[in-house]
Amino acid sequence: MKTIIEPFRIKSVEPIYFNTPEERRVILEKAHYNPFLIHSNDILIDLLTDSGTSAMSSNQWAGIMQGDESYAGSPSFFRFEETIQNITGMPLVIPTHQGRAAEKILFSILGGKGKYFVSNTLFDTTRANIEFSGAEGVDLLCEEGKHPTIPAPFKGNMDTEALINFIRGKGAANIPLCIITITNNSGGGQPVSMANIREVKRICSENKIPLFIDACRFAENAYFIKLREPGYADKPVPEIVKEIFSHAEGCTMSAKKDAFANIGGFLAMRDEQLALKCRNLLIITEGFPTYGGLAGRDLEAIAIGLKEVMEEHYLQYRIRSIEYITNKLIDAGVPVMQPAGGHAVYIDAREMLPHIPVDQYPGQALVGALYLDGGIRCVEIGSLMFGKYDEQHKLIPAPMDLVRLAIPRRVYTQSHIDYVAEVIIEVFEQRNAIRGLQIVEEAPMLRHFTAKLKPVQ
Ligand code: F0G
Repeated sequence: MKTIIEPFRIKSVEPIYFNTPEERRVILEKAHYNPFLIHSNDILIDLLTDSGTSAMSSNQWAGIMQGDESYAGSPSFFRFEETIQNITGMPLVIPTHQGRAAEKILFSILGGKGKYFVSNTLFDTTRANIEFSGAEGVDLLCEEGKHPTIPAPFKGNMDTEALINFIRGKGAANIPLCIITITNNSGGGQPVSMANIREVKRICSENKIPLFIDACRFAENAYFIKLREPGYADKPVPEIVKEIFSHAEGCTMSAKKDAFANIGGFLAMRDEQLALKCRNLLIITEGFPTYGGLAGRDLEAIAIGLKEVMEEHYLQYRIRSIEYITNKLIDAGVPVMQPAGGHAVYIDAREMLPHIPVDQYPGQALVGALYLDGGIRCVEIGSLMFGKYDEQHKLIPAPMDLVRLAIPRRVYTQSHIDYVAEVIIEVFEQRNAIRGLQIVEEAPMLRHFTAKLKPVQ
């Protein structure tokens, strides 16, 4: 087979910023060893997130010019609505300014003290919105998903036996919703199989618990189903997508991922009563139901992006480019999440840096080392992001300490990616010199965004 090429050519470019390791040392210290506090023009290759960082197509830019900015009843909204209805099969579509705004609305209505939201793995903002309502978020990930370096085709699957036991233990009446995150971002960008979605749906239906999908990376997940699940090889991606959504009562979506948009999100659902409550809250927090915190031009860009993301040449290139860098790292002995996920490479920092105890945040330490060595920005998905404290203020670590290098869609070329692999391998070879970190200052929730850290003496 010939090289799988980028399925686009480049019409407009933007600069990236070079600096020296000495300059980066000062920048990192000033940013308190937190990549979120580094200015983006001090970054060479920015792999902090794949969210809102995609390159839009010429078609999307053309759509931007067509955006109708009417307060109510804009044709841009109706194009947005119809596209989402067609893709998801869900009749009720509610725009929001991004994914977490959709979550905030949904969990404000369904959440509250004594309630449990079950999931394969909740993303950090989803969990935070659940907890902010007073409810509890519960991750029931399949066993293979908990072992980064052991490959399996669908490591994002929910543990259905654990789900049955959990429902039995807490009572279905206390579980307002089950949420499947596709792909499982916090667990390595790993996909969920159709068989698993079907089985979770069966269990939920039996117990009258609605199933929602956190659909941020739905197209990537659908393509993995096509590649890996028996019976799907010849099905067009839009059909697979439709089948995924057919099992759900609703979804939340951040259009900043699989819609190639720089901002945006939505809720879609089938239940009129729930939609009415969501829209009432939307008007207070986001805006009128035909724009929901977005400009008409954003609605256009999202509607176009949602169709482009399901093109198979694009998905083949997308999934292959993540696999390409992952395999380079595996060949060099770097412990990474296997197999490659859909949008990012995940390094197992706990495994790579056994000399750094978990309460000295090996993931965050590795994030700093990659910036110093090569000007690469990435993010810890581990005990800084998800850690909690017990009553003695001792850290309860996250199940895994991963470092995520998320690849923005259609932004970097293969030589950028080769450079990233070279930097990671160089840091890996010098890993014994990396030191742990301690927290100097932190917020009570989502602390990783603003925490200040310093090297352990
Ligand atoms: N759900 C998942 C699975 C996500 O990955 C994200 C965002 C959200 C919900 C929230 O969407 O950012 O539009 O409010 N993930 C980004 C990331 C931030 O870097 O993975 P949002």
